[in-house]
Amino acid sequence: MSFYQEHVVPHLVKLAMRNRELEPYRERVIAGAEGRVLEIGIGAGANLKCYPASVKEIIGLEPSARLISMARHAAAQSADRIAAVNFMEASAEAIPLEPGTVDTVVMTWTLCSIPAPLQALREMRRVLKPGGVFAAWTYADCHTSDAAINAIKNRLYIDLTGPYWPPERAFVDAGYRTLPFPFVEIAAPEFAMIAQWDIEHFLAYLRTWSASQRYLKAKGEDPVALIEPQLRAAWRARVREVRWRFHLRVGRI
Ligand SMILES: C[S@@+](CC[C@H](N)C(=O)[O-])C[C@H]1O[C@@H](n2cnc3c(N)ncnc32)[C@H](O)[C@@H]1O
Repeated sequence: MSFYQEHVVPHLVKLAMRNRELEPYRERVIAGAEGRVLEIGIGAGANLKCYPASVKEIIGLEPSARLISMARHAAAQSADRIAAVNFMEASAEAIPLEPGTVDTVVMTWTLCSIPAPLQALREMRRVLKPGGVFAAWTYADCHTSDAAINAIKNRLYIDLTGPYWPPERAFVDAGYRTLPFPFVEIAAPEFAMIAQWDIEHFLAYLRTWSASQRYLKAKGEDPVALIEPQLRAAWRARVREVRWRFHLRVGRI
């Protein structure tokens, strides 16, 4: 693992994911969790405080040791309100659990970070008990109300990092609708997610894109730095509204 992956990315994930305004959206997904819960790509543990007290056990799967230690800290802060959290340093493509041992699998903003998402979905199905529930929550590309800012962001999303997104990124752009879904669908509404972010928060978020990280690794150059001066000049406000189309897919086996 590179220095950037090990030391820089975890802090960017934590910064971009900690926004209070995202909490109602997190609660919407996490409130339905029950029994023994597996959270895939738990990151810095931003969902932990949203778990209902009725959940019996939370297993946090995460490949980054640094993020696990941040999530341990988040778990300790909610220890009086939520079930015990057990962490697994592992990848979703090979979940180190026995088949049929989990009641709920949840995943927020993570499928797009997993290199082999279809294999990961098969693994999640494998570990779910009969009748178990799967809930995945993602957002597609974001935009602001300012066309100039959107154009600069699109330069990063399409022109610069476009070739560094895996082909499965198309699933995210399509709001997971085209995803081969190995579960019986439970209808879930689509909605917009809105955050009020300052420029630092927005730049940190752009740096968490897996394609930004791949670009950096391949070229030794931070792609966000290439658009940062224009973005800073165009931002012209302390905070701006950033919107994402937001998608929730829920299923049962
Ligand atoms: C955008 S962050 C979201 C973190 C967290 N779910 C949240 O909502 O705050 C994506 C997460 O996916 C994790 N991830 C990356 N590759 C993964 C894999 N192969 N299996 C499981 N998680 C992975 C990253 O380490 C990171 O924690």
